[in-house]
Amino acid sequence: MSEIAEQKVFSPPEEFKKNANVKSEEVYEEGKDYIKFWEKRAEEMIEWFKKWDKVLEVDEPYYKWFINGKLNASYNCLDRWIEKGKGDKIAYIWEGEDGEVRKYTYKQLYEEVNKFANALKSMGVKKGDIVSIYLPMIPELPIAMLACARIGAPHSVVFAGFSAEAFRQRVEDAGSKYVITCDGYYRRGKVLDHKSKTDSGIEGLDIKKVIVVKRAGNEINMKEGRDVWWHELMKDQPAECEPEEMDAEDLLFLMYTSGTTGKPKGVMHTTGGYMVGVATTMKWVFDVKEDDVYWCTADIGWITGHSYIVYGPLANGITSIIYEGAPDYPNKDRWWEIIEKYKVTILYTAPTAIRLAMKWGEEWIEKHDLSSLRLLGSVGEPINPEAWLWYYKVIGKERCPIVDTWWMTETGMHIIAPLPGVTKLKPGSATFPFPGIQAEVRDENGVCKPGEKGDLVITTPWPSMLRGLYNAHEKYVEEYWSKYGFGKFFTGDGAIIDEDGYFWLLGRLGDVLNVAGHRLGTAEVESALVSHEAVAESAVVGVPDEIKGQVPFAYVVLKQGFEPSEELKKELIKHVSTVIGPTARPADILFVEDLPKTRSGKIMRRILRNIAEGKEEVGDVTTLRNPEIVEDIKKAMTERKL
Ligand code: WT7
Repeated sequence: MSEIAEQKVFSPPEEFKKNANVKSEEVYEEGKDYIKFWEKRAEEMIEWFKKWDKVLEVDEPYYKWFINGKLNASYNCLDRWIEKGKGDKIAYIWEGEDGEVRKYTYKQLYEEVNKFANALKSMGVKKGDIVSIYLPMIPELPIAMLACARIGAPHSVVFAGFSAEAFRQRVEDAGSKYVITCDGYYRRGKVLDHKSKTDSGIEGLDIKKVIVVKRAGNEINMKEGRDVWWHELMKDQPAECEPEEMDAEDLLFLMYTSGTTGKPKGVMHTTGGYMVGVATTMKWVFDVKEDDVYWCTADIGWITGHSYIVYGPLANGITSIIYEGAPDYPNKDRWWEIIEKYKVTILYTAPTAIRLAMKWGEEWIEKHDLSSLRLLGSVGEPINPEAWLWYYKVIGKERCPIVDTWWMTETGMHIIAPLPGVTKLKPGSATFPFPGIQAEVRDENGVCKPGEKGDLVITTPWPSMLRGLYNAHEKYVEEYWSKYGFGKFFTGDGAIIDEDGYFWLLGRLGDVLNVAGHRLGTAEVESALVSHEAVAESAVVGVPDEIKGQVPFAYVVLKQGFEPSEELKKELIKHVSTVIGPTARPADILFVEDLPKTRSGKIMRRILRNIAEGKEEVGDVTTLRNPEIVEDIKKAMTERKL
């Protein structure tokens, strides 16, 4: 560990420090009284229709913030900037993959949102109805989200790249009666037919209305009485819709994420605390100012996009970029071209994208003037020091601090992250908990010593924390509060704190993988595999991948009457992609006779992980019911490689 601690430390550049939103370490001191700290932020960052009576109410393991406070998220993102005379400021610059550009001022975005809010009402959507949104990266996605927020209908956005089956599961679990989708969209120049995917996802479900955005103009089916075109619905809607007065604890949205079982969990975020958390971290961690052009490359379909493309940036009244397409279309310099074109000042992306850019080579970057950049961000997985240094040198030209932000769907906002005008950075470390938040690294024996590896646990409540899992109380308790008890939020990530107090995140522990910054349960992939007629049983483990960080590797036991073959392997990989989505595709499949199991029948994944990684020492096999299988699997693995 000491070698990590001894690595070079990067202090904030003087110029940066001088102008930073947060200039002094005193905020950490202030954060020690976290109730007061967050109350102050709630006053500063958000406009309330009615002030709260109390900051925090605890009924373990449930937490409520800003009791009886009333507000509206869309009002905080739109109306207040117009009232402050900033209506003509650009909120979003959207660039389509095909080069089409649309710009929205705060006033124009406000009008679209208000019209769509009225449109939703005209379709019968009421306060409290959960609306499922299945849209790609087009402006109608944030417009739909904000319109839902305006009328108090929680949204549940499902990443457009997810399969029909994955969409179905999420619509069903949320009990949505309303769906917003599109005809098709562009990916690497091709039109993807999104409407048929939507249709097959909701087949047989009780859906009242499907609103369809026309994006690609591809031929689609519209179901009489159920499906309505967005543009037709919008035609005569008034551009004013009174924002609903929402309670701080009213549900703002659901975001489904992977857990340890095959079923996704609906993480609940409420209005008041979430807005305070994302607005504050946006301002402090990304140091956003009036004239910044900020670009987060994530998809709005994930929590990163919700917090740091939609609610965080808009609640700070800044200008953001939204890009529809792939980083390598038409060429591998598309991103750098966008940065040059719009003079992007803050770039927030994922280590997997950075490693891909490293692989593609610097010639793509050298073609462009990136001198507008002043701050870089990273999220989604641990960033290896090599990628950090490359990002710092090649993209940031050694001028831009890097904020490595650790957080998760459940936290809603950054939890461990630097303050770029204050924190001395160590490449590969997300540094310290945000002011007002305390975290520790522990195991069953207590808090770990510096340099010792353990579980990352958050020990103070924070305003944008999840308020539970939708219709799954027991699961909520079990996943987050059972390992260390109430008051100690179990994150599922491994971590080390070094001698200087820096946090080093080590990735997910156990049964959850992180593939290119996307969370994926091994159980999800396994259940997709066994849903194929040829598969009797399967075990999926994560193996390291140079670009994506981790990829799934599957062991498959076939049913009687099926023979291993290259074709079957391909078919199974494709099957997983159809059932879950392309991110879940196993990198490879090994057909085996049996899986190593304990006497109680539990699959020993540790052994399988070691074999998949090509390790000689696979670990203790003495507790296995079938130890002989280990040698067989090892042999099959070696032969596979030949
Ligand atoms: C998991 C959460 C919230 C961001 C998008 C992913 C990993 C996230 C970092 C980071 C190391 C990170 C963790 C976490 N992760 N950011 N800066 N350093 N690991 O959200 O799908 O809820 O996944 O992403 O393992 O648990 P998510």
